[in-house]
Amino acid sequence: MSTSFAGKRVVVGVTGSIAAFKVAGWVSTLTKEEALVDVVMTEAATKFVAPMTFAALSGRPVFEDMFTTEQQGGISHIGLSREADCIIIAPATAQTIARLAYGMADDLLSTTVLAARIPVIICPAMNVQMYEHPATTRNLKTLLSLGYQVIEPDSGVMACGEEGSGRLPEWEQVAEFVLREICTKDLGGQKVLVTAGPTREPYDPVRFISNRSSGKMGYALARTAFRRGAEVTLISGPATQPVPGGVHFVSVTTAVEMYKAVMDHFQDKSIIVKAAAVSDFRCAKQFDQKIKKDSSSLIMELEQNPDILKELGELCDHDRQLLIGFAAESSNIKEEGRKKLIGKKLDLIAVNDISSAGAGFEVDNNQVTLIDSAGEAQLLHTSKLKTADLIWDHVIANKMLKPAGSKSP
Ligand code: C5P
Repeated sequence: MSTSFAGKRVVVGVTGSIAAFKVAGWVSTLTKEEALVDVVMTEAATKFVAPMTFAALSGRPVFEDMFTTEQQGGISHIGLSREADCIIIAPATAQTIARLAYGMADDLLSTTVLAARIPVIICPAMNVQMYEHPATTRNLKTLLSLGYQVIEPDSGVMACGEEGSGRLPEWEQVAEFVLREICTKDLGGQKVLVTAGPTREPYDPVRFISNRSSGKMGYALARTAFRRGAEVTLISGPATQPVPGGVHFVSVTTAVEMYKAVMDHFQDKSIIVKAAAVSDFRCAKQFDQKIKKDSSSLIMELEQNPDILKELGELCDHDRQLLIGFAAESSNIKEEGRKKLIGKKLDLIAVNDISSAGAGFEVDNNQVTLIDSAGEAQLLHTSKLKTADLIWDHVIANKMLKPAGSKSP
């Protein structure tokens, strides 16, 4: 299964807030990701951004008025939502939120929502005083009780100059919640722990030993698990990736910090994926001051870090928890992978072929072979996001989810 917008049909309801201009970027991104986007604007929204902007970005007509729309092509407030996978209302003003809370049907957007039987995702954006007014709080609670999804706004300086909660979040954050609404929840009820990124092992206040891991593969696994309905905790070293929306994020720096975080979080999880590139060694001594280049050479003693995955293999309840490891190999991929599968007591190992061009560290693509006690499966050379979905597909198709997985010990 692909957890993307490709082939999905999305209604975007734009209402009259200054943040409407940001949603032009959302429509552009959705269209580039091969979604079919129907934009519905309230009258006030058209004062902020011209309908022509949305028409050009979506490549489709923009809907504004209930009656002219019906005259134009027969697409009515009923028809708009029948064909769609979800409705996103962004920015959602206090006015539109109140209208929807009271079930009003006095414009095209409110009637479309009232007639819809698909997920509705509301992204409030307004001045902080308006957002925090008890009437808005009450109306948002009503929307939640009606089964609509409400995305919490960001905090910061607003267009009006005041500071506080009410800013429209970035699309990258919102997209994860939308995808979770429209994807099949085949990981629903699962509690997933993913580790990702490199670790840093400092030896003086400004320097450290690390590796080239970007965190892309682990972040893709966390994102796709969330989209497929799981509750996700992501423990990450200093990766280059933005924190994905919807996941519980734990930031660590060293291997020892990662070890402690994993030990604190793994017990109640049903799936544990160790995609982090943990430094095998740390510096035995850390210098308090920056090391000077006084001498021509420097000998540093390294000591071994804990092998977190190996310890998890011993500690996990394999009847209840699925343990997945990763390995980066450049030769004898299958033999090395199987050795680690057995040696670390894993249920499944995903071996990256880092010798293949355009796969492995830093890049967007990967070439993975999955190995378990039953056999081997080579996945396509594809993006890390698609690879992550293929890994979940494999886990589900091979009935690897543990029956008692979602229960606490
Ligand atoms: O033995 P190797 O380092 O190749 O194994 C890689 C796997 O082990 C990855 O899943 C990685 O997250 C995990 N690992 C770990 N702790 C270490 C080293 C690796 O959990 N100290």
